[in-house]
Amino acid sequence: RNQKWLKFGQKKLEVQNYQSMLAMIFAVEEINARPDLLPNITLGYQIYDTCTVLRRAAEGTMWMLSGGSESIPNYRCYGPSRLAGIIGDSGSTRSILMAQILGLYRYPQVSYFSTSPFLSNRNLFPSFFRTIPSDEFQSRGLAQLVKYFGWSWVGLLATDNDYGQIGIQVVKQEIIMSGACVAFAENILTSLLNRNAPHIVQVINKSTVNVVVVLSSDSDFMPVVEELLKQNVTGKIWVASESWSTSALLSKDRFKKILVGTIGFAIHGGQMPGFREYLSSLHPSKHLNNPFAKEFWEQIFSCKWNEEEANATNQRCTGRESLESFIKKADFRITFNVYTCVYTLAWALQSLLQCKPGEGPFQHGGCANISSFQPWQLLHYVRNVNFQVNDWAYIFFNNKGDPPAIYDIVNWQLGDTGNMEQVIVGIYNSSAPHGNTLTLNNAAFMWNTGDAQVPYSRCNPSCPSGFQKVTIPGKPFCCYECNLCPQGEISNQTDAVECDQCSWDMWPNEVQDRCLPRTIEFLSYTDPMGVSLATIAIISSTIPICIMLVFFCHRTTPIVKANNWSLSCLLLVSLSFCFLCALVFIGYPRPEMCLLRQVGFGMVFSLSISCVLAKTIIVVIAFKATKPGTRLRKWSGIKVSYSVMGFCVLIQLCVCVTWLSFSPPFPELDIRSQSGVIIIICNENSPTAFWCMVGYLGLLAALSFIVAFLARRLPDSFNEAKFITFSMLAFLSVWVSFVPAYLSARGKNTVAMEIFAIISSSWAVVICIFFPKCFIILFRPNMNSREQLMKKDKVYK
Ligand SMILES: *[C@@H]1O[C@H](CO)[C@@H](O)[C@H](O)[C@H]1NC(C)=O
Ligand SMILES: *[C@@H]1O[C@H](CO)[C@@H](O)[C@H](O)[C@H]1NC(C)=O
Ligand SMILES: *[C@@H]1O[C@H](CO)[C@@H](O)[C@H](O)[C@H]1NC(C)=O
Ligand SMILES: *[C@@H]1O[C@H](CO)[C@@H](O)[C@H](O)[C@H]1NC(C)=O
Ligand SMILES: *[C@@H]1O[C@H](CO)[C@@H](O)[C@H](O)[C@H]1NC(C)=O
Ligand SMILES: *[C@@H]1O[C@H](CO)[C@@H](O)[C@H](O)[C@H]1NC(C)=O
Ligand SMILES: *[C@@H]1O[C@H](CO)[C@@H](O)[C@H](O)[C@H]1NC(C)=O
Repeated sequence: RNQKWLKFGQKKLEVQNYQSMLAMIFAVEEINARPDLLPNITLGYQIYDTCTVLRRAAEGTMWMLSGGSESIPNYRCYGPSRLAGIIGDSGSTRSILMAQILGLYRYPQVSYFSTSPFLSNRNLFPSFFRTIPSDEFQSRGLAQLVKYFGWSWVGLLATDNDYGQIGIQVVKQEIIMSGACVAFAENILTSLLNRNAPHIVQVINKSTVNVVVVLSSDSDFMPVVEELLKQNVTGKIWVASESWSTSALLSKDRFKKILVGTIGFAIHGGQMPGFREYLSSLHPSKHLNNPFAKEFWEQIFSCKWNEEEANATNQRCTGRESLESFIKKADFRITFNVYTCVYTLAWALQSLLQCKPGEGPFQHGGCANISSFQPWQLLHYVRNVNFQVNDWAYIFFNNKGDPPAIYDIVNWQLGDTGNMEQVIVGIYNSSAPHGNTLTLNNAAFMWNTGDAQVPYSRCNPSCPSGFQKVTIPGKPFCCYECNLCPQGEISNQTDAVECDQCSWDMWPNEVQDRCLPRTIEFLSYTDPMGVSLATIAIISSTIPICIMLVFFCHRTTPIVKANNWSLSCLLLVSLSFCFLCALVFIGYPRPEMCLLRQVGFGMVFSLSISCVLAKTIIVVIAFKATKPGTRLRKWSGIKVSYSVMGFCVLIQLCVCVTWLSFSPPFPELDIRSQSGVIIIICNENSPTAFWCMVGYLGLLAALSFIVAFLARRLPDSFNEAKFITFSMLAFLSVWVSFVPAYLSARGKNTVAMEIFAIISSSWAVVICIFFPKCFIILFRPNMNSREQLMKKDKVYK
């Protein structure tokens, strides 16, 4: 024997594999003892150790086919009993090799731990079955888990063998399809002693991911965990594949800091009543012909039977050690799959046995003979097997030889004793209705943060409401910037793709996550400005009436007599209306109000200014008339001025009628001028008409001003022309300053501006024309005499 063989021989017994072997023996013994399953038929077994070497797997397969210690292809040399099927192997690579050979003969092969999706290929592996789900389900499930917790930025870690590479491809594809992004995908290089751990840890530390999906066996992942521990990279959540999610190797206390909070897929184990007792009854002394029993003992209790070796380690097996604590901690997930494998073949044989001649599945309704069946005959029954294992799970195979995919979802939590424990927090059931495949008990989770709040894993913080996502060119779409929603738009959820426009009568609140009704703005009677303007207008409108009363009471005095009474009355009344027309501008702009507003204003003012013009003309004509001194001329002067007045008002009336008939003003909601406010305004509809009307008023005022200015030195009874000059000057200056103010004002201020101009220009006329007269009438009655007036006239002359 060469050195290599010796070394190989010293390899330790794998407790897990030995446990699997025991489960098979246990199952066979259990079936043989059952009266209902294969009565009068005894199952037997041969066990061959592949030593996880491909060559030995092939060798063992041939050996079993030939039925003896020599492998002679195509012949079955030894033993009277038929070979029903082969259970195994655990590793996918070896199972593939075996399935290629067994497939040629159509011998049923049932594996308990080969998860490669390759093995689902029915053309290549027609006689392969397994009691563990294909990795394809797991890969999809892992992606589903990532999606479930809303992790959009994850890292992937996989071994560089088939298991990792095929799995990672599916996981990556599914994660991307679910809308998340893969930050990095690194390989655990199984050929290196350190498994490339330093590089991997550096990548993990540099990345912003919080979640890393790991598809690896526990022994390959362990160097990475060691490195993480060494470099103190903590705070990540590990999503485990089934091959390390229940690993005792990684559950050690040392790794608590790194691995607590891990979640993963675990093989869905089942109950094997009696198996624990079967295990605990094991004792090397009872199985003298079983060489493994002693080794098993040594392995579990870290002791030696051999005295020489025991002296070196100072630990000797006494045979009084108790298996109890081992059995308590033992993981029977894989073991249960082995148990199920045996039952699969047993139930297939049972179906074969129960076949009734004439109703069988083979030619002419034929059945197979239990003592001389062909492998393909049993294969037929294995394909259609459907049974329940110990009232626990139903086992049947789909057309690819895969069982229903059921996984436990485990979460690594700190137990009462402070040790890491794998707690089942959910189940993955591929045969559950679509959308319910993943069932999780959220309350049972415990994360590495120490609470039940699901941690985040995203490329950047999520956008709060009021913001929208904007992708960054050249980066994965999960990495984005948050931009404030444009003005007038909102987003009421986090990570909004785009902002929504508020409806026309709504406006976003300050943080732009909700639409609020806009405030409606118009100059109302409840508004302080509206109230004060209305009050001023009403009080002002009484002043001309009061003046009229004063004039009426002193109608015999020269000053009043000197004025044309009817024209003064008309002017005062129209001035009173001028004040009152300001009221039409206040209040909700209803359609009729809009029609009335500008037109009323235009008409009343044109009447007032026309009166003033008429007054001026009377002064001029009166002066011309005094020289020849005929009453007739004076009367014609009054007629002329009345006609001028009528004509002037008529023109304005024409302008207004044209305006109203062709483009009447209407109320309008202005949502653009001011944010968050609906301004209700009267749209003039035709600005030309409006400015024509205002311009015409200006023209009349200018005309009055010019005529009065020319007549200011004329000797009239009471300097009428001079006062009219002043009043028109004031009137014009008010309206000239109104134009820029009107054009620049917004919202209700525009209206307030116009009201202000209306009131102040009216006051200008009232003050300049009437106040001096009232003053003399009321406070200087002595000056109100013909002599005084004449004297004054002289002074002026
Ligand atoms: C099993 O064998 C016994 C005796 O050899 C026989 O009496 C019995 O009927 C058999 N049972 C079945 C189910 O064939
Ligand atoms: C991990 O990253 C942090 C900063 O991101 C750095 O300070 C630290 O040195 C890194 N550790 C390793 C082992 O690279
Ligand atoms: C490891 O990092 C954590 C914080 O991430 C810190 O609290 C702790 O002290 C570090 N331990 C060592 C040994 O550096
Ligand atoms: C082992 O050690 C014991 C005493 O500690 C000694 O009596 C015995 O001979 C040793 N056996 C071997 C094989 O060395
Ligand atoms: C089944 O095969 C055995 C042995 O090959 C034979 O003795 C027996 O008669 C066969 N039974 C039937 C029903 O063909
Ligand atoms: C899986 O889902 C199927 C269909 O809903 C159900 O019949 C079965 O009992 C489920 N299996 C488990 C273990 O929950
Ligand atoms: C967000 O706004 C939409 C309409 O814009 C509404 O249907 C939805 O209920 C709102 N969602 C929340 C959480 O307020």
